[in-house]
Amino acid sequence: MTGKELREKYLKFFASKEHQIIPPANLVPENDPTALFINSGMHPLVPYLLGQPHPLGKRLTSVQKCVRTDDINEVGDAVHLTFFEMLGNWSLGDYFKKEAINWSFEFLTDKKWLGLDPQRLYVSVFAGDETLPLDKESIAIWKEVFANAGITAEVGDLQKGIEGTARIFPYDKKKNWWGPAGKTGPCGPDTEMFYDTGKKHEEKFGKACHPNCECGRFVEIWNDVFMQFDKKVDGTLEPLKQKNVDTGLGLEREVMILDRKESVFDTEVFANIIHQIEIISGKLYAEQNSKRPIRIIADHLRAAVFIMADGVLPSNKEQGSILRRLIRRAIRFSRQLGIEEMFMAEVADVVINDMGQAYPELVKNQETILNNLTNEEEKFAKTISVGLKEFEKLISKNTRELTGEQAFYLYETFGFPLEITEELAYEKNIKVDVNGFQEEFNKHQSESRSGAEKKFSGGLADHSEQTTRLHTATHLLQQALRDILGDHVHQAGSNITAERLRFDFTHDKKLTAEEIVRIEAVVNQKVKENLPVSFKVTSLKEALTQGALAFFGERYAEKVKVYSIGNYSKEVCGGPHVDFTSTLGNFKIKKEEAAGAGKRRIYAILTA
Ligand code: ALA
Repeated sequence: MTGKELREKYLKFFASKEHQIIPPANLVPENDPTALFINSGMHPLVPYLLGQPHPLGKRLTSVQKCVRTDDINEVGDAVHLTFFEMLGNWSLGDYFKKEAINWSFEFLTDKKWLGLDPQRLYVSVFAGDETLPLDKESIAIWKEVFANAGITAEVGDLQKGIEGTARIFPYDKKKNWWGPAGKTGPCGPDTEMFYDTGKKHEEKFGKACHPNCECGRFVEIWNDVFMQFDKKVDGTLEPLKQKNVDTGLGLEREVMILDRKESVFDTEVFANIIHQIEIISGKLYAEQNSKRPIRIIADHLRAAVFIMADGVLPSNKEQGSILRRLIRRAIRFSRQLGIEEMFMAEVADVVINDMGQAYPELVKNQETILNNLTNEEEKFAKTISVGLKEFEKLISKNTRELTGEQAFYLYETFGFPLEITEELAYEKNIKVDVNGFQEEFNKHQSESRSGAEKKFSGGLADHSEQTTRLHTATHLLQQALRDILGDHVHQAGSNITAERLRFDFTHDKKLTAEEIVRIEAVVNQKVKENLPVSFKVTSLKEALTQGALAFFGERYAEKVKVYSIGNYSKEVCGGPHVDFTSTLGNFKIKKEEAAGAGKRRIYAILTA
């Protein structure tokens, strides 16, 4: 099985169940101030899960590019990745548990589809808590589904594990609840499917083996979430207007299971990338005692290529800083393999060749990706050798701990992200004063930087009223820019937090003070006119014929929503928006700056 085959099979299966295929969203969320990257298939769908109508209807399916860096230290084991593809299907207030579970089972086990042995499937369900009950409905559906396949499936006991007919295991909210941890947004109980690899249970994870015991015998392969709640800022769960299904299935893990491989890195998905690293390093993957360095380089460079293809450049801020960390970490592990020369562009080329058909943005941006990757590599290559020597010096003084100042010195002078210093120290059995580092770091950072830090924990979209207002203001701004500067102005990127909007657009000159004042005046005039905001669903072609603006470079589905603000602005957009412009308040541009060749960036706020 190849990644390509699995992608195609999955979409075909759900198309046969009347799902519409939606194209993958850009990795950088447009209107979500709480996360730096899209982290799941549902992430771009938050407004629709909350009740906005989707232009393609109530049954959707996609293969979505995702980035998760919370588990970056686990990368190198059998299953963790920073970049991965998530297969998913959704019901927006349409079908619910019965169909979702039956279709998951059918796709996994039917010979026509994946043909996995149902005997090897185990499932988990939500056990309930003080306020919510055990998910008996899912249990009953699973029993029936397994019975139809000739398997008696009973609810198991975690203390006793997978003995006898025990096949359905209830777990608490930590395991069987999906949604934004500590954040707002749609969420609900879930049921997860696990594959029994048949590996021997390791007792260190507890006496009894069960799907979540973490001994490595079971691999989680699919998660069906029953999204029925909107988690509010104060933590309360408000029932949603509609009952949704949100499912997610990791493509790389699935290929690993289907091909009976030891790890995701041993599958077709990574074969060419790892082969290229072998050629460059002269080290054979199969012969490595620790496979971590090669795996980390392969994962991080794949992630870096995808992140850059979606318009991010290495920097010290937000998405750019994560990209920089991935690139620098890959370089540091390349040194462990004895790679001393420039090597990244060659590996990136393989990623682009392998994945360019499914993700044309890689091919389109090939030159930018390779140039920027090489630039960044050159910069860090200059300092890393000296930095590594400096690190050796610091620890040679018989020390058991690196101070915060020392770690910060390595960061600031040689560009060592904290986690590189921590890893180096860990290998030598030395501690790092992480809090001390943070204190030093904070002392040196500007306000905007610490604002960005808050987002590192990730999470789901915060569709607070203020972000919705700022989103509508962005549409007015784009039209105002075109009025004042000319029709060459097009959106080149957008990002909204609860505090401000950020809008990138094509224009090759710095704006004059007069232009800025005039742009503000136009937007504020449209606010005053209290224009109604409405949308229509149409084909992209029709939308463009009618003069709607579309974000060039974005991939759109067959049917799109076109938002109009009075007769003033018309844009292809998913929403949400305010109903009338007078709710926006006063529009003010705070900053205007360059954003790469031929692009400018505006930061603006709304005040009462
Ligand atoms: N959103 C769910 C997940 O990512 C399906 O696991």
